[in-house]
Amino acid sequence: MSSQSRPVILITGASSGLGLILAKKLMSLPYHLVLTARDSSLERFKDEGIEENDFLWLRPLDIINEEQRKDLILEINQRLSGVDILVNNAGFTYRAVVEHVSAEERIKQLHTNFIAAMELSRLVLPFMRAKRAGKIINISSVGGMMAMPTMAIYSASKWALEGYSESLWYEVKPWNIKVTLIQPGFINSDSFKLVRHTEQSADSAKEEKDPYHNHYHYMSNFIEKLMRLSPSKPENVAAKVIKVITHPSPPLRVAGTWDAIIFKLIRVFLPQKIYHRILYHSLPGIRKWGPGTK
Ligand SMILES: NC(=O)c1ccc[n+]([C@@H]2O[C@H](COP(=O)([O-])OP(=O)(O)OC[C@H]3O[C@@H](n4cnc5c(N)ncnc54)[C@H](OP(=O)(O)O)[C@@H]3O)[C@@H](O)[C@H]2O)c1
Repeated sequence: MSSQSRPVILITGASSGLGLILAKKLMSLPYHLVLTARDSSLERFKDEGIEENDFLWLRPLDIINEEQRKDLILEINQRLSGVDILVNNAGFTYRAVVEHVSAEERIKQLHTNFIAAMELSRLVLPFMRAKRAGKIINISSVGGMMAMPTMAIYSASKWALEGYSESLWYEVKPWNIKVTLIQPGFINSDSFKLVRHTEQSADSAKEEKDPYHNHYHYMSNFIEKLMRLSPSKPENVAAKVIKVITHPSPPLRVAGTWDAIIFKLIRVFLPQKIYHRILYHSLPGIRKWGPGTK
C-alpha cells in the first residue's frame, strides 16, 4: 500500500501520556501517522522505540508556534495530500485560583489548550473540505463541562475548546467533516504530577498563612486520590479515540472515562442551584478554606 492511500493522522503532544499510548496503538493499523512533539521532547520517541518509516513521520511541533504549525501542515499538504484526521491532544493544566494567574500564564494556558487547536483546525480544513471528508478530534476534559476551584484557567481553556468545536461541528457538517470532543475525567495515571503551579499558586501552596493555602492543600490531595481510585487508564481513553477514528459517524461528544458519564448525568439532571450547592459542600476540607476555622 502506498503512503498516499493511507489516511493521514496527525497527533499533537504524542511523546507522552495519552498521545503516546494512542500513537502506539495506531502504529499497527493502516494509517500514515504524523507524530509530533516539542523539539525538547522528540528524543522520547527514540526512548520508546518509535522510529520513522514510510508510514510514520516524527516532526517537531510546539503547538503555540505559528511558524511550526504552518510549516508542518504545508509539508503534509504537499507530500501526503492533507491531513485526514487531526487529533488535538497536546495540553497542560495550571492549578491556580483566579487571583493567582498572571496575564502571561492566562495566555499560555488558553493558547495551548484552545487557540492552537483552533489554528490547526483552520489549517487542515481547506484540504478536508476539498476531499469532502475528514475528522477533527479534540481532547477536552470533564473540566470543560464542570469547573472546579483552583482550575479556573484550565477549565476556561477547555470550555473554549468545547465552544469552538460545537460551532465547527455545525459549520463543516455539509462537507461531511466530523468534529468530536473526547471528555476524559480522572485518568488513573501519574499525570497529576505534571499539573503545573503558576508562580503565585506555587508560593501560596507552600505558605500556610496564605489565604488560599488550604484551597491548594485540599484540592491537590483530593484530585490525586480520585485519579488513583479511577478505574479508567490512559489505554481506555486511547481506545475511545480509536473508536472515533474508525467510526463512520462519531458523535460530537464522547465521555472519555466512566466518571465523565456520571458527571454528565449529574450536570444535566440536577437543578443548577442544587448541583452547585451539593458540589460546594462536597469540596474537601471546605470549612477550612479561606477565612474558615483553621
Ligand atoms: N490525564 C488526565 O487525567 C486528563 C483528564 C482530562 C483531560 N486530559 C487531557 O488529555 C490530553 C493529554 O493529556 P495527558 O494526560 O496525556 O497529559 P501529558 O502526559 O502531560 O501529555 C500532554 C502532552 O502535551 C504536550 N504539550 C504540552 N504543551 C505543548 C505544546 N505547547 N506544544 C506541543 N506539545 C505540548 C506535552 O509535551 P511535553 O512533554 O513536551 O510537555 C505532552 O506530550 C490533554 O489535552 C489533557 O488536557 C487529561
